Amino acid sequence: ILTGCTHAIDRDEDALSPVVGFSQSGTESNWRKAHTDSIITELEKEDYQVLYRNGFLNQERQIQDIRRFIAYKVDLIILAPLVESGWDTVLTEAKDAGIPVIIVDRNIQTSDSDLYITHVGPSFKAEGSRAGLYLSNYASQSSESTINVLELKGLENAASTTLRHEGFLETIGRDNRIQVTQTLQGDFIRSKGREVIRTALQDGTFNAIDVLYSHNDEMTLGALEALKELAPDKSDELVIISIDGQKDAIDLLKKGIINCVVECNPHVGWYVVNAVSRHLSGSKIPKEIYVPETVFSDQGDLSMIPTRNY
Ligand code: AHR
Repeated sequence: ILTGCTHAIDRDEDALSPVVGFSQSGTESNWRKAHTDSIITELEKEDYQVLYRNGFLNQERQIQDIRRFIAYKVDLIILAPLVESGWDTVLTEAKDAGIPVIIVDRNIQTSDSDLYITHVGPSFKAEGSRAGLYLSNYASQSSESTINVLELKGLENAASTTLRHEGFLETIGRDNRIQVTQTLQGDFIRSKGREVIRTALQDGTFNAIDVLYSHNDEMTLGALEALKELAPDKSDELVIISIDGQKDAIDLLKKGIINCVVECNPHVGWYVVNAVSRHLSGSKIPKEIYVPETVFSDQGDLSMIPTRNY
């Protein structure tokens, strides 16, 4: 029995349904919980046996989880990596054991692209560009000579952080009035977002900020808590751009507190399971499978936003 799994089972190698090991990076947000649920639900719908492990935001734990899956001789491993680098050794062990790996959510950097079959997830760079495009459009209607942005970044060395940063910078670069004048790190966590914005409000560096570009809704919600506490009037004049599309953020968009929410789609389960099934049945699949995403903003019809379950 593989202990510590939500779905602990005895390994019967003659069993008909394949066994899939799923290593998730953590449970830091409602988005993440929806992502996990979507993958497990769709795998179970197709009768896969699922071994789930939560990495608790610790890469070393995820590496140990993958080693457990290898020892257990699973048929396929799904990895939602915490960070981009540091996976080569364990993925080589999986490859040597003949176990295919599918990467979901954040991308990895590896010296050998044969270490995984495909990546299924968002285009984080496109998300950053969509955030930048909203701001460029806003700037084109503004007569301000400078627009100062505070970028609240996610976890360092995570693909969703590096690519959302790159896509945003590339797009805002077309208007030299827009400048990122302050960068803070909130690790995608609400309490961290609250803490760093609190400090920026207390030391006065937040005063000159016109735009908050936050890499996820959890940090945006934390930042808004800090603003409510220390500078309740500031959020009225601030342009707030967030990423994910959690229910709480969409509600604040509808109330006019957040201006733009770039969707990051956690409902990837169908796409992941489709890739798993096609690979296990011998079909060739593309190296990159993007999931559909959109943008919600005060420039659009907010009544059309589908109800969220996360
Ligand atoms: O990698 C995707 C990001 O991770 C989501 O935007 C965020 O909410 C989660 O922490």
